[in-house]
Amino acid sequence: MDHIKSAIRTIPDYPKPGIMFRDVTTLLGDAGAFRAAVDAMVFPHAGKKIDKVAGIEARGFILGGAVAHQLSVGFVPIRKKGKLPHSTLSQSYELEYGTDEVEIHTDAIQPGESVLIVDDLIATGGTAEAAIKLIRSAGGEVVGCSFVIDLPDIGGAKKIEAHGVKVASLVAFE
Ligand code: PRP
Ligand code: HPA
Repeated sequence: MDHIKSAIRTIPDYPKPGIMFRDVTTLLGDAGAFRAAVDAMVFPHAGKKIDKVAGIEARGFILGGAVAHQLSVGFVPIRKKGKLPHSTLSQSYELEYGTDEVEIHTDAIQPGESVLIVDDLIATGGTAEAAIKLIRSAGGEVVGCSFVIDLPDIGGAKKIEAHGVKVASLVAFE
């Protein structure tokens, strides 16, 4: 995991003063670290029935697409509101200031399908929680969530586990 952690760049004071932004673009650009991260995101869920991977916009698309390819399953995009062209289910979630909304196509998941959620990072867990609600509303079962980065001091993983969903992350930043 040291190779993965050291491939993540930290940008101080982005997007505002006091925030240490964990930037996965450097990991994605490092062939060995990218492959190791994708393999390690799949591993905790080995042996489970996984029918689809749902990736959360935007960085979850890159990692989730690679995880879906690795598992030879389909990919479902969970997008910010207004981006999906067909009929959608919507779920709002809290931001630091205000709210946002994510959407899924109503027909993206068949009833009873098992879905793995993938994103680059979990902070408050609000985005992943909204994704869980969307997948469940669409009739899917959430088999787990995989993130590259956990920010454990913020407590998002605990919030997700309270929904009965296993959370796996590769590295933590305090
Ligand atoms: C970031 C990150 C996760 C989310 C995590 O995405 O990629 O999706 O925030 O935060 P949370 O656990 O507090 O919900 P962002 O909303 O910045 O969107 P982007 O990937 O489109 O830039
Ligand atoms: N990096 C990327 N996305 C984020 C971060 C971060 O440090 N914190 C909240 N969302």
